[in-house]
Amino acid sequence: MAFKRTNNYNDFIQNEIATLEKDNLYRRLKIVSVEKKRGTSRVDGTEQIINLCSNDYLGLSQNKEILTKTILSLKQISQCSSRLIAGNDPNIIALEEKLAEHREVECSLVYPTGYMANLGVITTLADKFTTVLSDELNHASIIDGCRLSGANIKVFRHNDMEHLLKLIKMISSERKKIIVTEGVFSMDGDISNLRQICNIAKEYNAITLVDDAHGDFIFGDSSPLSSRFSGVPSYLRVNDEVDVQTSSLSKGLGCFGGYVASTSQIRELLINKSRQFIYTSALPEHLCVSALTAYPIAKAGNRQEKLFENLNYMFKNLLQLGFKLESKSSRSQIIPVVIGDEKIAIEFSKQLLDKGIFVQAIRYPTVKKGSARLRISVTALHNNSQLAYAIDSLESIGKKLVII
Ligand SMILES: Cc1ncc(COP(=O)(O)O)c(C=O)c1O
Repeated sequence: MAFKRTNNYNDFIQNEIATLEKDNLYRRLKIVSVEKKRGTSRVDGTEQIINLCSNDYLGLSQNKEILTKTILSLKQISQCSSRLIAGNDPNIIALEEKLAEHREVECSLVYPTGYMANLGVITTLADKFTTVLSDELNHASIIDGCRLSGANIKVFRHNDMEHLLKLIKMISSERKKIIVTEGVFSMDGDISNLRQICNIAKEYNAITLVDDAHGDFIFGDSSPLSSRFSGVPSYLRVNDEVDVQTSSLSKGLGCFGGYVASTSQIRELLINKSRQFIYTSALPEHLCVSALTAYPIAKAGNRQEKLFENLNYMFKNLLQLGFKLESKSSRSQIIPVVIGDEKIAIEFSKQLLDKGIFVQAIRYPTVKKGSARLRISVTALHNNSQLAYAIDSLESIGKKLVII
């Protein structure tokens, strides 16, 4: 429906939509209801189908123990207040203490989402006197945080340390510098060159910031119990060298919310200056109870074992079939099958849906134009027959569309 008032904007809106449609970049919301049967959903009224695009990597969002404790904890839907006013429930503080222990850092600060955590910490630490060096594949929340901060932004080629070095050498030593990367890249599934980044940061006096939304509770050093699955910095054994870590609770942990993990000073500064922290309602306490209940279950490790078994199976079979994957060795639970053309990627996704498999076609601006892909994410919930069926379907459609 158009604006009721007569003005010039209806044409503008119509043209914007038409351009997106013409470029195969138009997005339509699908109705997705998650089913009790493990790893399945109903999409736009289909039967139960295999969901291969969820970030619930460990399958915790439907865990009975977590659901029960969450329901029992429900006293109110929301604190109906920001944390600095009347919303700072003890469960938020308990969760922050757990997350700091998990990340092996001094402190953490919970935000309502991971998106806001990134915006909050970047806009607090960076200003017009700062240069942010950002990996070209960084998530939109990092990009938006950088833009909003007013900092000078230099984008380095994905995981390309020579390029990062070249850029950082050109920056005056007077300027504050922040290098921002992801732990596991959300659309390519590969892991950051964090060790080299930390070395470069040390040499050029830069702050390091890692968004580990997809590595959190999945990767980690397996030795001391408290650090198990605490993410990519610990997996690459550079936890002590990373200054700031951010993450989302709605992926590995299967819950909701986001957080920044760092020093007590940074926490203090965020509480006082981060607009995304100050001017919004607190994460509801029952969601903190969910995360606190999910925490030891995620740390136990058996789900990660099944997840890695599943992702290795998918990776090996997709590679054998001749699909173009970003790398020849399996790296994470995010497996991008690169199609290139946006229209073909949409068609592939549609035909998969017809066969009972839900995989979204990811397109610009989430990825570069002409690098559309099927972003397959496996979870610990998928069983062998679901994955075997998915591989058969990918093979037959891939051949039909001449992708393989
Ligand atoms: C790398 C990365 N960072 C941050 C976020 C945002 O997390 P949330 O969904 O909790 O806002 C996402 C989610 O898509 C992500 O992929």
